[in-house]
Amino acid sequence: MSDIKNYIKENKDRFLEELFTLLKSPSISADANYKNAILQTANQVKDSLEDAGCDTVEICETPGNPIVYGEKIIDKNLPTVLVYGHYDVQPADPIELWDSPPFEPIIKKTEIHPNGAVFARGACDDKGQMYMHVKALEYMVKNNQLPCNVKFMIEGEEEIGSPSLEWFVKRNQDKLKNDVILISDTGMISNDQPSITTGLRGLSYVEVEVTGPNRDLHSGLYGGAVANPINILAKMIASLHDENNHITIPGFYDKVIELTPEERAEMAKAPFSLEEYKKALDIEEVYGEKGYTTNERNSIRPTLDVNGIWGGYTGEGAKTVIPSKAYAKISMRLVPDQDPNEITKLFKEHFEKIAPKAVKVKVTPHHGGHPYVTPIDNIGYKAANKAYTKTFGKPAIPQRSGGSIPIVALFENELKSKSILMGFGLDSDAIHSPNEHFGVFNYLKGIETIPYFYKYYTEMATK
Ligand code: BES
Ligand code: MN
Ligand code: MN
Repeated sequence: MSDIKNYIKENKDRFLEELFTLLKSPSISADANYKNAILQTANQVKDSLEDAGCDTVEICETPGNPIVYGEKIIDKNLPTVLVYGHYDVQPADPIELWDSPPFEPIIKKTEIHPNGAVFARGACDDKGQMYMHVKALEYMVKNNQLPCNVKFMIEGEEEIGSPSLEWFVKRNQDKLKNDVILISDTGMISNDQPSITTGLRGLSYVEVEVTGPNRDLHSGLYGGAVANPINILAKMIASLHDENNHITIPGFYDKVIELTPEERAEMAKAPFSLEEYKKALDIEEVYGEKGYTTNERNSIRPTLDVNGIWGGYTGEGAKTVIPSKAYAKISMRLVPDQDPNEITKLFKEHFEKIAPKAVKVKVTPHHGGHPYVTPIDNIGYKAANKAYTKTFGKPAIPQRSGGSIPIVALFENELKSKSILMGFGLDSDAIHSPNEHFGVFNYLKGIETIPYFYKYYTEMATK
């Protein structure tokens, strides 16, 4: 496999060009207006898997967006790696905060990416990271280096909670049969310190509606005499955290597994500079649950955050009004062993209970997902670590991430195999934000590292 570096050098421009083509399709799953782009992108992924050397590739219809499935089976007795990724992206809003148009990819240098980064929606999450696997396959097939069987399952609904994937997985158990699942949809510590994600947080997502009077009212004629649903909603939301930033919903922490002091000490060894963290975000101070470090707060602890809040008059100038309704979208990130359905229920009961009689509240659950942690004593992890050691010159650090990929827990239950989360993005890559980007170094390093995973995994699995 000593020729991989050369192969990348020779094909680098094409690898980037092909990624650019993929990034030009605005495959936004949250907005039905982009259905055409979704279908177009699914077709692009299909073509790319065929070109890379898959024997069969198909676009599988689901109740929602199609899933692209491809495979190359070289020998039934050899292990099978299942690659999962997603071709859908987050909406680009607020579009005016992008320095270049979100669906016109461009390479620019940054402080963290002195060799340049590809700027576009989906560059890192997840088209760029997914496409590393397609190009790694291309290298292995063209150079006779594919040591085992490979299957690809690339979905188009990850950013909306993967509503069709469970449906698909349950109906295709045989087709998806594998020994290990390989996913690049997370991040690593930095470009000179690789890490492997060993945990993901779960998610419970709700929308709340608070209704006061049956119509909007003149805030002079009625102000002071009836409940203003925005005032009430703000008060209710504020009460969901106490002065130590603990969440006040009864039972919320009941199932949270606390880490041992040893585990916390181990975590604290990962390189991290609070000063740089604050500087990068332009904040004077961090903020969070008392008794936990920043890295603990955003990975091993559950959270509750308002993601959006609206109601009343927000147009130009002033309008004196007491609105009839106020709304908020609230997400809770969960850690083992919290159950998203239980947490949603606890939230709903609590939120209804704390509402004053003067308003009505409605809580509507959205998608959820189970948290996930994986041990590091399996050959999937070991092979990944060996691959990083080979290409980065140092071993990877296991790290629990704060993000969620709800489907990973489902894979473990339905397909009975471990997911190895080899992410190559950086936290500073602005995923879901304006100016999302993915380092050229990261993209190419991913393509270089992935074939070693296949090699070491197959060696370990067939020993
Ligand atoms: N790729 C991300 C998740 C991620 C990013 C995990 C970085 C770890 C590090 C994924 O596309 C995502 O955005 N997931 C959503 C959840 C989903 C149900 C919408 C999330 O975490 O908000
Ligand atoms: Mn993603
Ligand atoms: Mn995402």
